[in-house]
Amino acid sequence: MSTSMLSVRGLGMQFGGLKALSDVTMEVATGEFVGVIGPNGAGKTTFFHAISGVHVPTSGTVRIRGQEMQGNSPDAFCRAGVARTFQTPRIFGDMTVLENVRFAFMFGNRGGDAALVDKVIEETHLSGLRGETAGELPPARQRQLEIAMALATAPRLLLLDEVAAGLTEGEVEDVARLIRRLRDTYGLTVVWIEHAVRTLMKTVDRVAVLNFGQLLADGTPAQIAADPKVISAYLGDEVDDADKADKVDEVSQ
Ligand SMILES: Nc1ncnc2c1ncn2[C@@H]1O[C@H](COP(=O)(O)OP(=O)(O)O)[C@@H](O)[C@H]1O
Ligand SMILES: [Mg+2]
Repeated sequence: MSTSMLSVRGLGMQFGGLKALSDVTMEVATGEFVGVIGPNGAGKTTFFHAISGVHVPTSGTVRIRGQEMQGNSPDAFCRAGVARTFQTPRIFGDMTVLENVRFAFMFGNRGGDAALVDKVIEETHLSGLRGETAGELPPARQRQLEIAMALATAPRLLLLDEVAAGLTEGEVEDVARLIRRLRDTYGLTVVWIEHAVRTLMKTVDRVAVLNFGQLLADGTPAQIAADPKVISAYLGDEVDDADKADKVDEVSQ
């Protein structure tokens, strides 16, 4: 049996009259790579906020490696080994690449070796840019920097919120390859929210679909691509019919 990295039970998040998440239950095993998809406003980012300490969920439990964590601060989640990126990159625009990664390393403060800073810069392909001002980097590089900053906290569980948004198709493929390699190098468990379903489905082990704050489906990419509920709620709008047929072919192999 694999051990549980993340265990979410009956998670709910209410904003006034709006239920952004209702009764979401999900397990992520150690070492697993899970994709999260769903329409805009489905609650994907809220889900990340609730499992990384940004929001205190209204109901339910969040366990990281068995430890109950809901209600704790982002700092406590970080110490428990959770790192995340934000849909809008939270880098320090007037600091250099190196300064940003150093800052994240100090925030993580997990007693690790400072050599990790150089290591993650190299592994996210930012070595040639360490002296550049972060705010002046193109979007794809800023996304790499955000990933580098998350890695500098020496996480076990990496949460990625649309790190490929706004990138070209080729860049999206590069990001997918990078995440996969980092996962292998660092033995990470990864949860990746992304709209680029075609690439995501080829990359992850499992896909969870959120819709109106509820878990609509959870299965292998092949199961999700063929699920009529998912197609009508999301995939039907996301890709045209030819694309969809291709994708089902690709992931069923
Ligand atoms: N802090 C907040 N206050 C009120 N409503 C919010 C807040 N954050 C998110 N929402 C609402 O919750 C729903 C889910 O949002 P979000 O999690 O950002 O969706 P997604 O990431 O899937 O696009 C949306 O209707 C959004 O407007
Ligand atoms: Mg979002």
